[in-house]
Amino acid sequence: MHSKDQICYEDYQQTADWLLSQTQHRPKVAIICGSGLGMLADALKCQDSFKYADIPGFPQSTVQGHAGKLVFGDLKGKTCVCMQGRFHMYEGHSLCKVTFPIRVFKLLGVETVIVTNAAGSLNDTYHCGDIMIIKDHINFPGFAGLNPLNGPNEERFGPRFPPMSGIYDKHLRQMAFDICKTMGFAQFVQEGVYCMVGGPNFESIAEAGLLHKLGVDAVGMSTAPEVVVAGHCGMRVFGLSLITNKVVKSYEDTESVNHESVLEVSKMRSETLQTLVTELVSRMDINNNTA
Ligand SMILES: *[C@@H]1O[C@H](CO)[C@@H](O)[C@H](O)[C@H]1NC(C)=O
Repeated sequence: MHSKDQICYEDYQQTADWLLSQTQHRPKVAIICGSGLGMLADALKCQDSFKYADIPGFPQSTVQGHAGKLVFGDLKGKTCVCMQGRFHMYEGHSLCKVTFPIRVFKLLGVETVIVTNAAGSLNDTYHCGDIMIIKDHINFPGFAGLNPLNGPNEERFGPRFPPMSGIYDKHLRQMAFDICKTMGFAQFVQEGVYCMVGGPNFESIAEAGLLHKLGVDAVGMSTAPEVVVAGHCGMRVFGLSLITNKVVKSYEDTESVNHESVLEVSKMRSETLQTLVTELVSRMDINNNTA
């Protein structure tokens, strides 16, 4: 990674201090809204919101369907901060920039990060509109040396060689499953492995076949770097993928995916996702960090 891309501890601290001076909210939970899932932030009460462009040191989002706002507020008595729009590698951001907000959240006192994304499914038992609780991920860019933790390690955040086993909190996953059962969502909820690819193009048929063979359930262009950085600094992680399309795996298949259809499915499930996330947050015991 180029040295001008290195961000130092004081840079995160400056942004965190600025935010703390602008809002009374002291969030324990951060929610990252994926493509078309920005409405998750609408459920927050007593909102303070900041455009990314107005936050010192913050990167800027460029994707359609991503609002580019940081929203603080109250969700069923729990203080949250919500990213309406995230940063992607394919926008040209370095991975330090993509994950910049995560370390800022850590410095704000956040203990739990909820990541959401829109993803394509490779698992034949999945349907469009299914919600996949992320059990684990494959960080494909990481295989090629594209990792947000590259460069000198910042010990104040975490260790040089952080473990990634069990990174998606088992207790929160179980809790989410229970909520889905209670709410009648069980028939369209899955649990599976998310794989990150760089994008911005969707997968070729041969690439889709490869991912399928590897046992990937859903594929998308985000999430893994944020989760790696959250895990590095000891935050608890919960992740959801909304299945917005089935990845084309056969040369006989004439369908193809586009960003508009992705946004359409997001809209269809927006209320369900909002209910699930709200209920999950309300059931979290965020004081002693054991849900
Ligand atoms: C697909 O999803 C089902 C249901 O969650 C799961 O049992 C199965 O292991 C997954 N993978 C494949 C390759 O079918």
